[in-house]
Amino acid sequence: MTQHPVQIAPSLLSANFARLEDDVRRCEAGGAEILHVDVMDGHFVPNITIGPLVVEALRPVTSLVLDCHLMISHPDRYIAAFAAAGADWISVHVEATQHLHRTLSLVREHGKRVGAVLNPVTPLSSVYDAAEYCDFILLMSVNPGFGGQKFITSFLRRAAALRDFLDVNGLERVEIEVDGGVVADNAEAIVRAGANILVSGSGVFRGHPAETIPALRKAAERGQSQMV
Ligand code: DX5
Ligand code: ZN
Repeated sequence: MTQHPVQIAPSLLSANFARLEDDVRRCEAGGAEILHVDVMDGHFVPNITIGPLVVEALRPVTSLVLDCHLMISHPDRYIAAFAAAGADWISVHVEATQHLHRTLSLVREHGKRVGAVLNPVTPLSSVYDAAEYCDFILLMSVNPGFGGQKFITSFLRRAAALRDFLDVNGLERVEIEVDGGVVADNAEAIVRAGANILVSGSGVFRGHPAETIPALRKAAERGQSQMV
């Protein structure tokens, strides 16, 4: 099974928006590689969060990767704005776009790392033909829209099947990201199933990121050490 390095991506959705820079520093102190930015439009998901302006504000205050998870309808309309704002990675839901190849290509044309995202019960096969155009595939382990939800355990079976598909088809380079309900207690099993980029919002900010991030990483690396 392909082993990519474990990367921890705190979700800023659970940060204090009035003190965002402080929380970014706390994530840096915890050793996070990535900041996960949840963009919601009140249409594709039943919640409204943040847009390119916040990404633009974050860009000069950190060199961490800005991973923009677009939970929005018509993502094509906004990709240029997120790219210009300083996003490093942009991911789009397969459920939100009718012309997935076009949307993924658009992200790549802007020179960004690109990911396709699947909701918890969207068939894995819906991303098979798109996988070669992706740098990563994000499998949701909650229904998108809110932080603090419970991890849906069928993720584990799905991640293992997707990792297998990628490896068998010469797509070892494509990474698997997990998002939703990730905590130190399930990180080991998540990584063993084949995911290596771990998004965690409430799990990171419930405690102090300087402690919760290393705890997540330790559990994740334990999972990785058990892989054959
Ligand atoms: C959910 C978002 C997640 C969320 C994760 O729609 O995509 O990134 O912030 O939060 P936790 O880790 O609390 O489930
Ligand atoms: Zn997310």
